[in-house]
Amino acid sequence: MDLSETMNRITGDDAIIWRQGHLYLLDQRKLPGEVVFLELNTAAETARAITDMVVRGAPAIGITAAYGVVLAGAMAFRSSADQWQAAIQADLEQLRRSRPTAVNLFWALKRMGALLEGLPRGADPTDALLREAIAIHKEDIRANRDMGELGASLIEAGSGVITHCNAGALATGGYGTALGVIRSAHKRGLIREVFADETRPWLQGARLTAWELLQDGIPVTLLADGAAAHRMAQGGIDWIVVGSDRIAANGDVANKIGTYSLAVAAKHHGVKVMVAAPTSTIDMELASGSEIPIEVRGEEELLGCGGRRVAANGAGVWNPVFDVTPADLVDAIVTERGVATSPNRKKIEKMMANRPESP
Ligand code: MRU
Repeated sequence: MDLSETMNRITGDDAIIWRQGHLYLLDQRKLPGEVVFLELNTAAETARAITDMVVRGAPAIGITAAYGVVLAGAMAFRSSADQWQAAIQADLEQLRRSRPTAVNLFWALKRMGALLEGLPRGADPTDALLREAIAIHKEDIRANRDMGELGASLIEAGSGVITHCNAGALATGGYGTALGVIRSAHKRGLIREVFADETRPWLQGARLTAWELLQDGIPVTLLADGAAAHRMAQGGIDWIVVGSDRIAANGDVANKIGTYSLAVAAKHHGVKVMVAAPTSTIDMELASGSEIPIEVRGEEELLGCGGRRVAANGAGVWNPVFDVTPADLVDAIVTERGVATSPNRKKIEKMMANRPESP
């Protein structure tokens, strides 16, 4: 497929593209130096792309997995028209195993699975699956825009904000969660300055958040992760605005490693913490954050930087890539269904009960 027209005006909003039976992912490992799309044609390739961080960010992982189910359905039907429901199961399992922490992955697979169960045997499932995947993708963009407006309403004029990792268009179907709030607040003229933590080891902040914000004409200043507390001590920081990979029923928030220390430092400096996430990130089945599975990735991610070995030979490595911020360090959880300030189970249950308006 010719993506040259798209490439000329590529933004994070175009990171996941379905065209003519193929899934195209903007390879986020290569940004911002190279803008390259990978073409995927099987669920196995899709699962591998999620594991290898071609696509990352909780909602984007869920959307990608939904398109992966479309590829799985099409392939299963081609190989065994009568038995495709059985043939698809191994692919679904592979997608399920691609990454453990972002609950959006399991949410999307459950939703696609529920549709699959109702589809007739012997009939090609591809069109029905594709309609559902596109619906998941579009609903996410809409949720982000709604969240952006709700989150911006909490921000006062002249605010300084720090964000962590990349919770932008690249991490979602488009517009972003934390960056959606920052985009909406910036449009309203409320933001004085945005700081982005570089976010070791994958540098999602330095590579992706900075790229996205600059494309939108929003100036951004990078901080080494360890500089955030010192920056708060200087004054002028009003909000930490981050996304999430999974929020437990009591409001504990799993997000990129370093979010917890950012929230502890924010509490010390009287800076407020906002978590922007769609309700597909809320896992009501987990009572607290201690039950959230935390992904631990390979040692090579810490031993080197930019493909070059930097660590001393023989050093051991522990590389958890998410942490859990307790609910009492969070000032507001912003979803498309509303805002829970000083979140707890009761407030989250109430927010989840708000039904979204139909489009
Ligand atoms: O390892 P990553 O890059 O997938 O981690 C992403 C994050 O931690 C994001 O902050 C989170 O998924 C929210 S994205 C809207």
